[in-house]
Order: sequence, then C-alpha cells, then structure tokens
Amino acid sequence: MSITLRLYRADDEEAAIALWQRTWQQAYPSIDFAERLAWWRERWRGELVPNAAIVVAEDNGALLGFVTIDKDGYLDQLVVTPEQWGSEIARFLVDEAKRLAPTGIALLVNKDNARAIRFYERNGFVHAGDEVNPTSGSPVLRMAWSGTSSSRGASGSA
Ligand SMILES: CC(C)(COP(=O)(O)OP(=O)(O)OC[C@H]1O[C@@H](n2cnc3c(N)ncnc32)[C@H](O)[C@@H]1OP(=O)(O)O)[C@@H](O)C(=O)NCCC(=O)NCCS
Repeated sequence: MSITLRLYRADDEEAAIALWQRTWQQAYPSIDFAERLAWWRERWRGELVPNAAIVVAEDNGALLGFVTIDKDGYLDQLVVTPEQWGSEIARFLVDEAKRLAPTGIALLVNKDNARAIRFYERNGFVHAGDEVNPTSGSPVLRMAWSGTSSSRGASGSA
C-alpha cells in the first residue's frame, strides 16, 4: 500500500461523502447516517468545501480518509475508512492539518467517542473544556493542539 496525501478536488465529492457515511456508521451503529446524508451533503458543499482546506489520503485512486482544517485552525472532520483504523493514515492526516495550521488546532469530539479522544491525546491534543454540540445537543469535549513553538516566534532565549 502506498498512501498519497493531496488536496481535495471537486470530483472527490461522491467518494468523500460515501466515506463519511460509512465511517460514522461504523463508529455509531445505532444512528442512521443514511437519513442524515442530504443534510451532510449540504453542509459539505456549503460550509466545509468553501471554507476549509481538505486533505485526502488515497491509495491507487481509492479515497481512504480526509481531514478538514479551516483558516482559524478548527478541525471539523477527521475520517479514516474503518478498514484502515489502527494504520498510520489518521496520523498522516492530522500531521498534515498541523502543517497547515502551525499556530494551533481546536476541535470538538463527542465525549463518548473514546477511540477518537485516545487518538488525539496520543497526537499531542489536550482536553480544553466540556461543551454541548449546538446542532445535536450532545456533550462534546473541546481538544486543542497548541502548535509548533517556532510558529509562535519563541526565541528560546531568556
Ligand atoms: C478517529 C479516527 C480518525 C482515528 O483513527 P484510528 O486509525 O482509528 O486511530 P488509532 O487506531 O491510531 O488510535 C486509536 C486509539 O484508540 C484506542 N481505542 C480503540 N478503541 C477504543 C475504545 N473503545 N476506547 C478507548 N480507546 C480505544 C486504540 O487502542 C488506539 O490507542 P493506542 O494507540 O494508544 O492503542 C478513526 O477512528 C475514525 O475515522 N473514526 C470515526 C470518525 C471520528 O470519530 N472522527 C473524529 C471525530 S472529531
């Protein structure tokens, strides 16, 4: 397998939306994500594609994951195909988000999404407060990565 990272293109839309549905369905089997597809497509087209950098991971033309990161360093979506959970793809994607947002990243993750929380902890994110998802009303955890020190202009000298 040879993973390539590249920027999202318009013709990735069908594959990206199908991957979003399949991955979240695996993470939350009791929720019907097919029912949310029209809402998601609208959000994807209207909010994320116009306002965020989207990096996709692919292998031989197959879309295996993506991350969205906006100009304020807000990470809305990190999705990796369930067949590749436990591989390095999620780290490749989050490292790319860090490269695009070197001054820091913030995100909200469902408090019951233990796998994602563990992943973010392992990748340098800290807990930054409890919140409520304004759309779903479910409890979420704010997590933050504070950025690379060089990008904050730290000289290191006293
Ligand atoms: C979040 C996501 C991108 C992480 O990628 P991944 O390949 O699954 O992550 P990893 O396997 O590298 O890391 C997961 C960690 O959680 C651990 N884990 C797995 N199941 C767990 C559980 N039920 N409870 C606690 N930890 C768990 C794993 O052991 C691993 O930790 P370790 O490396 O210390 O052993 C991927 O799971 C995904 O796409 N999930 C669905 C979408 C999602 O939740 N996105 C993020 C929301 S903001």
